[in-house]
Amino acid sequence: MAIFFTAYRILLLVFISIFCLNYFWNQDKFHSINHTQVTNQTNKCYVPEWNQLETSSITNTFWNSMSRLLWMALDLSKENNQNYTSVVLIGAYVYPEYISITLNSQYMVKQRLYCRYFDCKKQEISGSSWQGIVFPESVIHCPRRIGAEFVSVSKYKTEDFPNPMRLKFRNFEKPIHEFAICVAPLYGQEPKWIQIVEFIEHHKMEGATLFYFHIGNISDYDRKVLDEYENNGDIEVKVLQEKYERPFYAWQLIEIQDCHMRAKYHSKWTAFIDIDERISTQNGRISDFLNSEDNRKVAEIQMPILNIAKYEDAPMWYQNEGQVRREMISNKYDKTPGPSWNASKAIIRPEKIGIMSIHYAIALEHGYVSLRSDSSKIVLRHYRSTQHRENLNDWDKEHTLFGSPLPQEFSSELTKKVFEKTKSIYEKVPVNCSTIPEDMWKSRQFPDPCQRMLLTW
Ligand SMILES: *[C@@H]1O[C@H](CO)[C@@H](O)[C@H](O)[C@H]1NC(C)=O
Ligand SMILES: *[C@@H]1O[C@H](CO)[C@@H](O)[C@H](O)[C@H]1NC(C)=O
Ligand SMILES: *[C@@H]1O[C@H](CO)[C@@H](O)[C@H](O)[C@H]1NC(C)=O
Ligand SMILES: *[C@@H]1O[C@H](CO)[C@@H](O)[C@H](O)[C@H]1NC(C)=O
Ligand SMILES: *[C@@H]1O[C@H](CO)[C@@H](O)[C@H](O)[C@H]1NC(C)=O
Ligand SMILES: *[C@@H]1O[C@H](CO)[C@@H](O)[C@H](O)[C@H]1NC(C)=O
Repeated sequence: MAIFFTAYRILLLVFISIFCLNYFWNQDKFHSINHTQVTNQTNKCYVPEWNQLETSSITNTFWNSMSRLLWMALDLSKENNQNYTSVVLIGAYVYPEYISITLNSQYMVKQRLYCRYFDCKKQEISGSSWQGIVFPESVIHCPRRIGAEFVSVSKYKTEDFPNPMRLKFRNFEKPIHEFAICVAPLYGQEPKWIQIVEFIEHHKMEGATLFYFHIGNISDYDRKVLDEYENNGDIEVKVLQEKYERPFYAWQLIEIQDCHMRAKYHSKWTAFIDIDERISTQNGRISDFLNSEDNRKVAEIQMPILNIAKYEDAPMWYQNEGQVRREMISNKYDKTPGPSWNASKAIIRPEKIGIMSIHYAIALEHGYVSLRSDSSKIVLRHYRSTQHRENLNDWDKEHTLFGSPLPQEFSSELTKKVFEKTKSIYEKVPVNCSTIPEDMWKSRQFPDPCQRMLLTW
């Protein structure tokens, strides 16, 4: 990695000279704004002190601007996909110095768009628009504006814009979560309820304090689990829906960009993994691991994969404790060919990463490094199905497998938590109709509950 870092620096230096010209030509975009143009709109809306800030650029240092120009020149973020879609906002986030907007578009990298700003009443703040460049793909960064509560984008300065989106507050001095997880969008026919609970409880035991979920498609039954965790404040849920169909892997690329922006200034460390994957550290505390690796220069830690053969689908419905115990993925499967770097996943410092992708960061901010962790310290247990995969069924047949269960103590604690949670969500207690006071239904002229109950679940 040290070699990569040096090579990166040299490349950067080479490109600096080439891009100095470009930089000064583009200077207006990065540094100048006509402050008198931005009129005081605050008489209509209450503007809290934190939002009385105006910035003139999206990058605060020379090195950041240079890195960005270099990544653009090297075309490090290009999808060229879905070129018939119109631009719709996916997410919008306000940070201490700038704003990021994530878009559904996957064909607009390096194109110019105007950032548009709106006050609390969705009135455009006059003279506030600013022309930026989509980069990385599906993301545009914009400067801050006083009193901006909503944002949108447009191709031309005075053109129509998609429905403005409320800015999500990410104006934190220090991230409020030490470690959080971005979960790849949920799709597909396999029942998810037990997996979601096991996923969340496992990673809470490892030290995760927040989960960012994106939903592609999920059954009502499985959705109850997400609703429960969301009600408790354990997770943030974003539903991906719009008029344009696209294959799920195209959505995953958008989810990665949106979740990267969602996690900035909110979670110091953020992992990008799937619902069938579990991060597992030696002593069961990921924060200990992260602290031991953190030398303040690390922006990314790549984790080796432990593929574990998963032979069956999860059960459709909750039944009882015995079933949950038996069907928990970590209790049911533990056969693996051993650690591998094929399709590894990463934990990142979101603010230190310029471009994120599914398996690793593509571009790091200047001065930061990426490292690969040893499988004795951390692995990603991937409960990889051997059937109806999009690619490579029966992958287990090509390997010699050996058992590698979770530590006994961790496992029994996890089983207890998963059972308690699923029971509390799915086990319903029926009402005895004759215990309902007569006045409750008679006064409303409702039917006798012993004849017709009017149940709500
Ligand atoms: C700034 O904007 C105001 C109002 O639109 C205009 O009168 C003024 O000339 C502008 N100043 C510069 C330096 O462009
Ligand atoms: C904006 O207007 C409000 C009310 O008229 C005033 O109290 C406030 O000081 C003004 N802010 C700025 C930055 O001019
Ligand atoms: C973009 O759309 C046009 C038709 O509108 C099509 O001809 C072209 O091949 C598309 N480009 C890509 C890269 O898909
Ligand atoms: C969405 O999920 C439900 C429940 O699993 C399934 O019945 C339905 O076919 C799915 N729809 C699509 C478009 O995948
Ligand atoms: C990595 O995975 C790909 C696709 O899943 C497979 O074709 C390839 O053989 C794997 N490589 C190794 C070294 O296992
Ligand atoms: C329902 O409540 C009544 C009155 O309290 C009681 O007599 C009856 O046994 C209860 N029925 C059931 C099935 O619990």
